[in-house]
Amino acid sequence: MKIAFIGTGNMGGALARAAAKSPLCTKLLLANRSPEKARKLCEELGAELTDNRGAAAEADVLFLAVKPQGLKAMVEDIRGVLDARGRCLVVSMAAGWTVAELEKLLGGLPVVRILPNIPVAVGEGVTLLCASDKATEAEKNAVKALLAPSGMVAELNEEQMEAASGVTGCGPAFAAMFIDALADGAVACGLPRHEAIAFAAQMLAGTARTLLQSGEHPDALKDRVCSPGGSTIQGVRRLEEGAFRAAVMNAVIATYEKEF
Ligand SMILES: NC(=O)c1ccc[n+]([C@@H]2O[C@H](COP(=O)([O-])OP(=O)(O)OC[C@H]3O[C@@H](n4cnc5c(N)ncnc54)[C@H](OP(=O)(O)O)[C@@H]3O)[C@@H](O)[C@H]2O)c1
Repeated sequence: MKIAFIGTGNMGGALARAAAKSPLCTKLLLANRSPEKARKLCEELGAELTDNRGAAAEADVLFLAVKPQGLKAMVEDIRGVLDARGRCLVVSMAAGWTVAELEKLLGGLPVVRILPNIPVAVGEGVTLLCASDKATEAEKNAVKALLAPSGMVAELNEEQMEAASGVTGCGPAFAAMFIDALADGAVACGLPRHEAIAFAAQMLAGTARTLLQSGEHPDALKDRVCSPGGSTIQGVRRLEEGAFRAAVMNAVIATYEKEF
């Protein structure tokens, strides 16, 4: 399957690296406004350098990875090439562009909308996916398989996608704040900053992996750590006093309300 990316910046570059690892990808084509960036990635991945129209002409699956505000002009420039083709599956990651808007912009081609998050770059991301009715199960499965090396890929309806993106897309910022705050606490107790951040980050990654592997409820894991009369429950008490859970819930809800 021929896969092309238009835009090889942070997100396009990360997902192109993931797609290159997928057995489904038999040829990878990369295009970017400043070609030097795409050329470097081509050298790294053994991909072929092309331009936007070349990508649109050849790809079976065409990933659009430019900033949302640049999407319309970029698509208008390749529309003639796409219109001349029988079928091409287009995958957009442009924040804020709905499936219906994308389908209209692309003249009725099958469209898959994805919302990846920053950890896709290390193979530990979450990519949310929804598709137009025109995209077949086989086409959606192909996109899932291409993105599998970047982490978890989950298909949702578009409304659920907006709800989930407060956790998956914005969550890395909240998690980073939590790690920083944990480290601050340890620094206040005398640990050097570098170790404090490394320990906090690994603790969070390890706790997350434990929950994912076991399927255990987070509350049950918390209860396992809180020995009766121990120190952890005292920390839990302080978090409850600071309305930690309410603050986190409100943060996710605020991101959702911002969407609409
Ligand atoms: N970053 C995230 O966490 C994240 C999360 C979810 C979704 N997204 C989505 O991913 C998309 C890309 O975001 P990003 O963070 O990767 O941005 P980025 O790093 O700025 O990358 C955008 C790339 O697109 C290229 N480009 C711009 N206009 C172009 C055109 N007309 N033709 C070809 N290439 C063009 C830019 O080239 P130059 O080198 O010339 O600037 C740049 O390399 C956005 O739609 C964003 O909403 C990002």
